[in-house]
Amino acid sequence: AAPVGERISSLCATIPDYPKPGVSFKDLTPVFADAAALKAVVDALIEPFKGHFDAVAGVEARGFLLASAAAYAAGTGVITVRKAGKLPREVVAEDYTLEYGTATLELHTTDLAPGSRVLILDDVLATGGTLGATVRLFERCGVHVAGVGVVLEIDALNGRGALPGQQIHSLLHL
Ligand code: PRP
Ligand code: MG
Repeated sequence: AAPVGERISSLCATIPDYPKPGVSFKDLTPVFADAAALKAVVDALIEPFKGHFDAVAGVEARGFLLASAAAYAAGTGVITVRKAGKLPREVVAEDYTLEYGTATLELHTTDLAPGSRVLILDDVLATGGTLGATVRLFERCGVHVAGVGVVLEIDALNGRGALPGQQIHSLLHL
């Protein structure tokens, strides 16, 4: 793995049977809590997409941490993709299936102008339900998805299958 991947690997915690039996939970909070790791992760997530995005979007909740830091570093605004019922104005909504349950994500229709380019960030790509729904939300608003960046991709769950045609940048594959 690249140096940033090794750093993530050494800090990431695995919790068996959380939040449900059979689910192996990857906890990245120690990565976020480490000053050098947070900076390395955020810089590495942006790097391949530099100059190709106008805004950074984060998926509630853990994606917010990365997107906010990345937007600040890149000098762009940050867009919030939220769980159902949290955004007060007109939204588009997409249902998705998660590794452990089902849910709906929403996006304000007017947060980004049609034709603008968004970099989407989240902590983990597992089944791809979350990021697949997020890509669809932006596409429905006429926003171009410049790329998708995650700290951790769980290859066995084939989340890439839910993101056809997208450039996906994962800092660590498990
Ligand atoms: C987790 C994780 C990703 C998603 C990955 O979020 O933060 O967003 O699951 O899974 P998927 O690829 O199978 O969709 P979760 O919904 O648990 O919520 P949180 O970020 O609010 O903790
Ligand atoms: Mg999440």
